Amino acid sequence: MPNAYISGTGFFAPPRVVTNDDLIKEYGIDTTNEWIVQRTGIEERHYADEGVATSDLAVEATRIALKNAGLEAHDLDMIVFATLSPDHCFPGSGVYLQKKLGLCEGPKAKFIPALDVRNQCSGFVYALSTATAMIKAGVYKHVLVVGAELHSHSLDLTTRGRMVSCLFGDGAGAVVLSATDEDRGVRAWKLGADGRFADKLSQPIWDISKKPFMPLDANGVGQVAPEMMWAQMDGKLVFRHAVERMVTVLMETCIEAGITGNDIDLFLFHQANLRINQYIQNEVLKLPDSKFIHNIQRFGNTTAATIPSLLHEAVESGRLKRGMKVACVAFGSGFTWGSVIIEW
Ligand code: UT7
Repeated sequence: MPNAYISGTGFFAPPRVVTNDDLIKEYGIDTTNEWIVQRTGIEERHYADEGVATSDLAVEATRIALKNAGLEAHDLDMIVFATLSPDHCFPGSGVYLQKKLGLCEGPKAKFIPALDVRNQCSGFVYALSTATAMIKAGVYKHVLVVGAELHSHSLDLTTRGRMVSCLFGDGAGAVVLSATDEDRGVRAWKLGADGRFADKLSQPIWDISKKPFMPLDANGVGQVAPEMMWAQMDGKLVFRHAVERMVTVLMETCIEAGITGNDIDLFLFHQANLRINQYIQNEVLKLPDSKFIHNIQRFGNTTAATIPSLLHEAVESGRLKRGMKVACVAFGSGFTWGSVIIEW
């Protein structure tokens, strides 16, 4: 059975930086830099311009990942695209990415499968696990795994929405997962979900049980009420469950891999709140800063893109080296969670 290893990583964030003070000055939100930094660790995030779509961010991250893997788009056998902010309701963003990568044109056209994963903050670990299973089954040689989000166009950037809108930023991360006969790569993964909390962090937009699925005005134009249009979150509940589930799934994955937490060289936690991650690091795992990388300060919460962005930073900065063990752990809306341990 082949092993699945990450042959290339990439990350892209749109150039426009929005600081906490910009949220006040440009959008008139009643908040302070101190409130956001103290509660979340976030100092700034990146916002895409109008006209940019999620798949556009994904293309940029993919090109970097392919270059680092020494591959071209036509070497890919499959796309797995994790996002909660797809270009459209349907089809999924994976097919837009496939087209934008030039895979559908010319004599070398290659109509590889494109799978969208809708698991929000844990989307990338779900996608990576799925791709690993494909590679280990011997079905594919190179699978592109993307986590990309364009949040800023669908945030309630007013004081009403400040609790959620100050948290999120735009960005895309990509990895190429490749087959190898070498003794390395993904060692273990664990995924979980608890649908009892599905409404505790959600952005419904519509209710398909209603006829029609959203109210219409006199001209037949769909009307979306603010509580349906903007993401809603029970922040304290999410925080509590995030700590419990991330610790548990990490330990379960270590057991699956036959190692302990002390054997892990680098922890890449989903970047939802620096306080969640610091609590787990200091109060539960009691491990040094040198084993963790965070980038929420600069990018906010980029949901499915957080873990591939950290992987890229870890590789580029030289902190992730061949032979090291890295644990990727995520929790989010659903609730869903997951962890993947990779021997680099
Ligand atoms: O990636 C998806 C997973 N998401 C998460 O993991 C998020 C987990 N939860 C959290 O990160 C935190 O719960 C938040 C950062 C979202 C909120 O922090 P908190 O300490 O739980 O805040 P709170 O709910 O206790 O709110 C305190 C106050 C409220 O005012 P009142 O009702 O006490 O007067 C809020 O209205 O802070 C107010 N508030 C703000 N004030 C200034 C909420 N947002 C803001 C803001 N600026 N941006």
